[in-house]
Amino acid sequence: MANETTTIINNANGESYEFPLREGTIGPAAVDISSLYKEAGIFTYDPGFMSTASCHSAITYIDGEQGVLLYRGYPIEQLATKASFLEVAYLLLYGELPDEQSLVGFETIITRHTMLNENLKNFLDGFHYDAHPMAMLVGVVGSLSAFYHDSLSVNEPRHREISAHRLIAKLPTIAAAAYKHSIGEPIMYPRNDLRYCANFLHMMFATPCEDYKPGLIAEKAMNLLFILHADHEQNASTSTVRLAGSSGANPFACVAAGIASLWGPAHGGANEAVLDMLVEIGDVKNVQRYIEKAKDKDDPFRLMGFGHRVYKNYDPRAKIIREVCHQVLEELADADNPLFDLAMRLEEIALSDDYFVERKLYPNVDFYSGIIYRALGIPRNMFTVMFAVARTVGWVSHWMEMLSDSNNRIGRPRQIYCGPTQRDYVPISKR
Ligand code: ACO
Repeated sequence: MANETTTIINNANGESYEFPLREGTIGPAAVDISSLYKEAGIFTYDPGFMSTASCHSAITYIDGEQGVLLYRGYPIEQLATKASFLEVAYLLLYGELPDEQSLVGFETIITRHTMLNENLKNFLDGFHYDAHPMAMLVGVVGSLSAFYHDSLSVNEPRHREISAHRLIAKLPTIAAAAYKHSIGEPIMYPRNDLRYCANFLHMMFATPCEDYKPGLIAEKAMNLLFILHADHEQNASTSTVRLAGSSGANPFACVAAGIASLWGPAHGGANEAVLDMLVEIGDVKNVQRYIEKAKDKDDPFRLMGFGHRVYKNYDPRAKIIREVCHQVLEELADADNPLFDLAMRLEEIALSDDYFVERKLYPNVDFYSGIIYRALGIPRNMFTVMFAVARTVGWVSHWMEMLSDSNNRIGRPRQIYCGPTQRDYVPISKR
């Protein structure tokens, strides 16, 4: 890592201080101001982390201006069309693509960890039938901490690895169980003869009285969506996992925190919100009215699935999903999907509107993903759950990377205090 110097001036007393510039392998350099307070007695202020790098990471690279996304150096377009989800999971976790033997070994480990402790089913029974599956996911994933005392030493690399495997393996089982609970059907056990995505489809759609044979198209589509959602560097939920983990918290609690962060409509909750929005718009003739609403600063409505903190160009994941959307809908005999037509028209109008052009607002990954999930028979309230299943791979990869980084310390931002200055307590009778 190159260390050039850069200068920062302390405005308060006019003195200047020099700080190193940290450079990665690609992307903008960062001024290392970690000793700024100690040396100059001032903080930096950057709400929303608009210009702040929180860590070094070798997992995922994004060039938001060019619309580039690399997992461990490999372009997302290549992985999406050529790899399996577990191959990508291995890549994100361990840094290299697996050879055949390593992949088979990894698939076997993940497959053998998919079952849940029977007592966990009681947790699900405690939820009301109309509980949102994300609410169940947050609760049940957090409660996994109560079951694996044998491997919760976060300073032990092998314990970290076992926990990562358990999370990747059990998330689909928990997600499908949450769905089954919400529709009042019995939970389906995982099947070891099925691949990761096919097994998930089986747990979602089979019943004890009727088998479900996952079609190849559905499995392929899910594999693709899972790869596209697997990681996205320091987004809100991943940063949440890292922040929770920086205190030494156990991985199940950290991932539960990540799921909570993902749930918001500005993040992973957007895929559900996009479908809600498309249904609300209802017809192409209403598109312009909704575009005007999105532009109106007095109206809280935003075009869901549009805009991104990092991408100021077309989100490469959205480009891939849009392309396969046609194909998947056709193959699933859902070619005349009015919501897809509506989404494409909405995109076309928004991308030719000055408001969206000037602000560089393009469709993001969630603009089209819900349309495919819907065609696969996944209900709307499960969309963000699907995202969470896939993103678990990214969360645990970042958590493991953070804990093996010698620079890791507890995450603890500073603040600019704007409250009252010191004052004396007034007895209640005198207030
Ligand atoms: N519709 C209308 N206007 C928008 C939208 C939108 N979807 N997104 C951004 N803008 C406008 C803002 O009002 C702002 O306008 P201004 O400069 O006149 O004030 C400008 O574009 C910049 O937007 P910010 O909110 O400052 O951008 P930020 O980086 O903070 O937010 C975010 C990014 C949260 C993704 C935002 O674009 C948004 O809310 N989009 C809709 C929700 C969504 O799709 N989220 C999924 C993101 S992808 C993911 O997490 C997987």
